[in-house]
Amino acid sequence: MTQSTFDPAVDPAARRSAGGAKWTRYDADVIPAWVAETDFAPLPEIVAAAHAVADSALFGYTGDEHRLTDACAGWLQRRHDWAIDPRCVIPMVDVMQGVEVAVTALSEPGDGVLVTTPVYYPFFDVAPSAGRRQVEWPLRRGEQGWEFVVDDLDRILGDDPGISVMLLSHPHNPTGRVMDRATMDRVVAVAAAHDVMIVSDEIHHDLVYPGARHRSMLTAEGGADRVVVSTSAAKTFAISGLRSSVLICGTQELKEQIRHAHPRMLLGQVNRFGADTTIAAWEAGDAWVDGLMTHLTAMRQVLIDRLAGEAPLVRFHPPEATFLAWLDVGRCGLGDDPAERLLAEARVAVQDGAAFGTGGPDHIRLNFGTSAELLNEILDRLIPHLQG
Ligand SMILES: Cc1ncc(COP(=O)(O)O)c(C=O)c1O
Repeated sequence: MTQSTFDPAVDPAARRSAGGAKWTRYDADVIPAWVAETDFAPLPEIVAAAHAVADSALFGYTGDEHRLTDACAGWLQRRHDWAIDPRCVIPMVDVMQGVEVAVTALSEPGDGVLVTTPVYYPFFDVAPSAGRRQVEWPLRRGEQGWEFVVDDLDRILGDDPGISVMLLSHPHNPTGRVMDRATMDRVVAVAAAHDVMIVSDEIHHDLVYPGARHRSMLTAEGGADRVVVSTSAAKTFAISGLRSSVLICGTQELKEQIRHAHPRMLLGQVNRFGADTTIAAWEAGDAWVDGLMTHLTAMRQVLIDRLAGEAPLVRFHPPEATFLAWLDVGRCGLGDDPAERLLAEARVAVQDGAAFGTGGPDHIRLNFGTSAELLNEILDRLIPHLQG
């Protein structure tokens, strides 16, 4: 069957009137480039699946999570050449619920939970809200961009034997870094040496640019009984509001351990709108995602070219994945809160880097998951403020 293709057009007025946080948080003259959500029209099969649920008028219990876990396995096999056992998948409401469920199942109150900074800032709520201690593994910025230095990890874990879980954003939000296979293997080996489990948030897994390749942490050497993956179709297809995700384990034992660590009712059950739309994405979204990535690759290049040519004071390592650009604007004279200044003066809403923790001050995170027209308008507005 022919699959629907991607349409790179964006109608700002339609986006705004549709509602949603991205387009309504700020005044109507502000272009939103903050939250990690693209602006594109959804995959038509997702819309059709939502209509089909409504039209069926069958809103009772479904009792069928296998269609979701099978669709997940199919997508991972086709897109990532990764064979999972669908029986080792736990449906969840959203990726951060999966993260919290896994972290708390694999640690005890008072244990250390390691996060890689700078990082997607809701990670900073995970340990404190669960009575765990947050510990940092700061990335280092080198000539090639932000690096995961595994010797640092080894030292941090050696210094603090109370750390029991490491929480990864993989691919990494906000730097867009994709760990290579050798680094992944070393991370898992070091974690094993210190008896540390890994919870890997892989929500950006599909959004990888030519030259890099995403491999799940679970596929690293020794990962099967040490890594739990939380992921969904939400970032790829911009369906975060439909609330559906999966937790993937490498073994049935680990799955049962995580499931039984929590009162069953607390985990909730599958929502049919979320599940059916996610199934549609994973069964019929291949051609659409290919088109999305062709477009995002072009937008990333627009950003690279325009910043290099018109705003050379900005330090920027192009992301290997995600539609997010992590820009060091420390030399641009924007003061302590560059995002606030750019909102006030350029009328573009970007994300404040300081919120991403160590390594974040002086940075902004810019979402370039939009049309060429809007991205150029965003850059037309920002660049005069990035020239020092
Ligand atoms: C790394 C990462 N994890 C999780 C989320 C949020 O996922 P969810 O809404 O499914 O919890 C985001 C959203 O931006 C993200 O970038």
